[in-house]
Amino acid sequence: MIHRMAALGAGAIDFLTKPVNPLEFQARIRNLMALVDARNKLADKAEWLRTEVEKAMAELRAREEEIIERLTIAASYKDKETSKHTRRVGFYSEAIARAYGLEEALCADIRLASPMHDIDKVAIPDAVLLKAGKLTEQEFAAMQQHTTVGSDILRESRCSLLQLAASIARSHHERWDGQGYPLRLSGTAIPLVGRIVALADNFDALTTVRPYKEAWSIERAVGHIRERAGSQFDPDCVVAFE
Ligand SMILES: [Fe+2]
Ligand SMILES: [Fe+2]
Repeated sequence: MIHRMAALGAGAIDFLTKPVNPLEFQARIRNLMALVDARNKLADKAEWLRTEVEKAMAELRAREEEIIERLTIAASYKDKETSKHTRRVGFYSEAIARAYGLEEALCADIRLASPMHDIDKVAIPDAVLLKAGKLTEQEFAAMQQHTTVGSDILRESRCSLLQLAASIARSHHERWDGQGYPLRLSGTAIPLVGRIVALADNFDALTTVRPYKEAWSIERAVGHIRERAGSQFDPDCVVAFE
């Protein structure tokens, strides 16, 4: 009895007592083989299911990424410069997020979601959006409106990438010192992704030609951003950016 218990504890699943009956021995072996076979099939099935779920998740992710890509194209349809701008902002934001120490998966999400930061431009009248000169106060107010239009378009989505994009669209014009818009949030009340994209967005605006300005050199733009660490920009994001 003690041996039986010890054997069971060690994982034995069946016993034969001596003298062994050949017919019983064969029957027991057949049963055990059937059991092992069933176990293996179950393990195979679990493995198959796991790979199927993985495949489905990858497909879902690819579709989400495509939707974002299409939305970004739609948003910049009126203005080809915008599409290049938003793409660059995606890459800059990813690089800043990585240097800041964010997780790799989040960095990739930020690259995908941040090009939608100006999706709201679809709602801005062409006369304002493409205006060559300085904006009037009224036009500037219409421009500021865009941060809320953008997040309105994206926020209701259940897709996490689009929710991230909504948060970026809403917060990328806030300033560290609370002088930004639309909510005049300050410091860490501004979502980190918004603080990161604000920097990337500004860096790209400074280093490229705009209807109202020349393209600045990288050195000049970096100096400008460095000077605004702690006022316009999150100082930790500026460190990561540098
Ligand atoms: Fe913007
Ligand atoms: Fe932008």
